[in-house]
Amino acid sequence: MQKLIIQGGQKLEGDIPVQGAKNSALPILSASLLCEGESILENCPELSDVYTACQILTSAGCKCDMKHHVVCVKADTLRNSEIPEKLMQEMRSSIIFLGAMLGRTGTCTLGYPGGCELGPRPIDLHLQAFQKMGVKVHEENGILFCHTPNGLHGAKIHLNFPSVGATENLMLAGTLAKGETVIKNAAREPEIIDLANYLMKCGAKIFGAGSDSIRIQGVKKLHGCTYRIMPDRIVTATWLATAAITGSNLRLLHTDVNSLEGILDVLEQMQCQCSYQDNHICISAGKPLHAVRYLKTMPYPGFPTDTQAIFMAALCKANGSSVIEETIFENRFRHVDALVKMGADIRVIGRVAVIHGVKQLHGATVSATDLRGGACLLVAGLGATGETVLTDIAHIDRGYDKPEILLQKLGAKIERIFSP
Ligand code: EPZ
Repeated sequence: MQKLIIQGGQKLEGDIPVQGAKNSALPILSASLLCEGESILENCPELSDVYTACQILTSAGCKCDMKHHVVCVKADTLRNSEIPEKLMQEMRSSIIFLGAMLGRTGTCTLGYPGGCELGPRPIDLHLQAFQKMGVKVHEENGILFCHTPNGLHGAKIHLNFPSVGATENLMLAGTLAKGETVIKNAAREPEIIDLANYLMKCGAKIFGAGSDSIRIQGVKKLHGCTYRIMPDRIVTATWLATAAITGSNLRLLHTDVNSLEGILDVLEQMQCQCSYQDNHICISAGKPLHAVRYLKTMPYPGFPTDTQAIFMAALCKANGSSVIEETIFENRFRHVDALVKMGADIRVIGRVAVIHGVKQLHGATVSATDLRGGACLLVAGLGATGETVLTDIAHIDRGYDKPEILLQKLGAKIERIFSP
């Protein structure tokens, strides 16, 4: 078991290089399975979810090596299309290997995905759409057997909700399917564009990624390439919220300002000053924070659900009351009890949280319940007075690449403790 021990209340200063995006690396690792020849993926964050994706690739017979944030994948030796149950349970994103497996082999055997518990996370949109592409699915004891008796073909698919994972899965399957696949009401997240850019560099024909209508013309084969994973916009937001709660001036390096739609104007409303140069962001957060009257999580370009918990931590110390409505996941307020234990004043009614700002948060022993909920408590601990002991940090390690080392360089008093 590992814990983070944080002595909060320190002002931080310095530069933070922003890691590569987990939510881009995972679908791109899955996409590498479609290619003949080697793919070299640079700027890959060293995270437990990335290791799980690499294990899925190796268990299928691919070669996959990771060194110094570069992953090399050779999928020519792929020999089976079964995703082991244990790896399906490790993370929700294992489901995006389904589209790639179907594209490459026409079959896939897998269980239902596990991952962060944020409320029900069905895969109905994925399966319905695949059926339109000629996939037959039958389920036995919770295992899905998928095959394509007449081959995989393109189809026109309207998603009832712009699901990120379903959009990615369909792009993956569509690239090697026969004919044209059109995805209407597609997700528009920047990670979708990153996946499309990688696939197009490998020879795929994809039009409209980043809009709500994506068209994919199936090609016969894809080749590997060297590709740099985009910077992580949720991690960027985490360090911006850290600056806000600790009243610090920080410079975030190698991020992508254009992917921060829905985030930067919230920081402005909170009275933080941000300036941008190339792909660096300077944040200056010396003034008392202001509450934000109403924040609603929405698909991109709205305020991201993945930053809801992280901003809630900072808003706990803002002057006035803030209201946050979570519209994407049913159960994404599991961090609230821990924030209250740290002195926050928060009421939750259904999917709405009302945060009355308090002068100070205080340290406490708290547990991460999911990835971003864990990051929220890390941010809160840095902005609180006294000692915070943060347990169950395996959740945080799924999305943040050694955060304590980076924070120590900025002057934070934080340590990782290994205990039996
Ligand atoms: C992606 O998850 C992200 N994960 C999540 O980030 C993120 O929270 C989420 O998109 C929303 O932005 C990755 O990119 C790896 P969805 P995904 O399919 O693809 C419902 C993080 O913290 N839905 O867009 O699983 C679903 O239940 C993670 O980094 C169906 O009903 O999200 C949810 O309410 C957590 N049926 C909503 O859509 C389906 O078949 C959004 O899900 C699929 C989804």
